[in-house]
Amino acid sequence: MTDTSRQTPMTGNMIARRQLLRFFAGSPLLTATSLGAITSLLTAGTDRAFAQSYDVLRGSRRALGPDGVITAAADALDVFEFEPAAKKAVLGQEAPAHWGYLQSGVDGDVTRDANHTAFAKYNIRVQRLIDARKVDTSVKIFGETWGSPIFMCPVSSLGAYDPEAGVTVARAAAKRNHQMILSTVDNASIADVSKAHGKPAWFMLYPTDDWNVTQKLVQHAESAGSPAIVLTVDRQGGRNTETLFRERRQDQRECSGCHTPGFTNEVSRKSNFADIDVSKVTNLYGTGMTWEFIDRLRKIVKGKLVLKGIMTGEDAKEALKHGVDGLIVSNHGGRAEESGQSTIGVLAEVVDAVGGKIPVLIDGGVRRGTDVLKALAVGAAAVGIGRPYVWGLASFGETGVDRVLQILDDEFITIMRQVGALDIKHITRRNVTSA
Ligand SMILES: Cc1cc2nc3c(=O)[nH]c(=O)nc-3n(C[C@H](O)[C@H](O)[C@H](O)COP(=O)(O)O)c2cc1C
Repeated sequence: MTDTSRQTPMTGNMIARRQLLRFFAGSPLLTATSLGAITSLLTAGTDRAFAQSYDVLRGSRRALGPDGVITAAADALDVFEFEPAAKKAVLGQEAPAHWGYLQSGVDGDVTRDANHTAFAKYNIRVQRLIDARKVDTSVKIFGETWGSPIFMCPVSSLGAYDPEAGVTVARAAAKRNHQMILSTVDNASIADVSKAHGKPAWFMLYPTDDWNVTQKLVQHAESAGSPAIVLTVDRQGGRNTETLFRERRQDQRECSGCHTPGFTNEVSRKSNFADIDVSKVTNLYGTGMTWEFIDRLRKIVKGKLVLKGIMTGEDAKEALKHGVDGLIVSNHGGRAEESGQSTIGVLAEVVDAVGGKIPVLIDGGVRRGTDVLKALAVGAAAVGIGRPYVWGLASFGETGVDRVLQILDDEFITIMRQVGALDIKHITRRNVTSA
């Protein structure tokens, strides 16, 4: 499933940049890392973003398919247009349960939806007469420079949407130097994903309830070069993924053919568990974890330790006491609990609690460049996306993921110009106001 029919009109600068990239791409000295770095250099400080509307009108007309769904990634106007395209592709494989898995929140999906709608509670304060033709979108997190503050969230079982799973996502993320966090339970291994990414990805840890397995997973990630271990702490209970269960009713396949009961069978398709004895594991999520577990983990993690799933100032302060290096404000895309609390709604509380001592990242409901700007303005160091890139992946493979990132980056650059921020550090709370 690839799409090469980009129709976007190119400016002179874009053509020159593309020629330069082609020149570098032909070089035998080029590694994926250097390509990422070159791409981000070319991207930062350029006039890339949206063409003026008359340029688009002069371009060739791209019609939708008869069902009103895009037929090529390049035709998408926003990330929402990938959602029906992904649905069509997944249902075309007669896999409604996989579609339900991706879309599901918990209970009535109230928290899932609140994550996005709550961005409307902030408005953006624009600033006029600042020359912002050249903006720099790069950010530095833990000493690493990323080309964009938008990162790829860990999403389990990407193999349900693409044969190469996280490897395909990594290739797209590398193009403009986006960082990605790989889930413990992706189908691809941290070593393969890091290789495709051209630099080590962060590793998201589900520790299981066997400490030996926890240690091995951390060792595997660190020997693949992962600079950060991201412990997900929001799955302590069971969950009612009702949307998934509803779609499952339509699925004619025998799900237990792949999802064989028993932990060993369940993770036999998950490369990060290769060569690890999981016979004593009874649960993946480490249910029953406490702050003592964080202390124990802190002692074995050599690089950065990040907690994903923090939603209150109290927990953020506690994390500081336990030597955590970073936080991700997250409710698992509304898939952990039905609290009704959006992540953007609690971001200020968490940012204020840590007082700049460690970076606070956020994910959940980010669908527009303006959402990215709002989160950065409130104090996030970087902003994650989950479902949008999987929609791109399921519908058009690597090209789809690439286009999702391109759209979000372009929207983000456009709104950076409107607030007159030439780089990320100039995006501050002054740029937003409560609606
Ligand atoms: C299908 C699916 C699987 C996910 N798997 C994981 C996972 O393995 N580990 C994790 O920490 N978060 C997981 N998440 C949550 C994402 O990392 C992220 O928090 C969330 O998707 C962000 O919200 P968004 O989808 O609205 O962008 C998953 C989300 C989805 C949709």
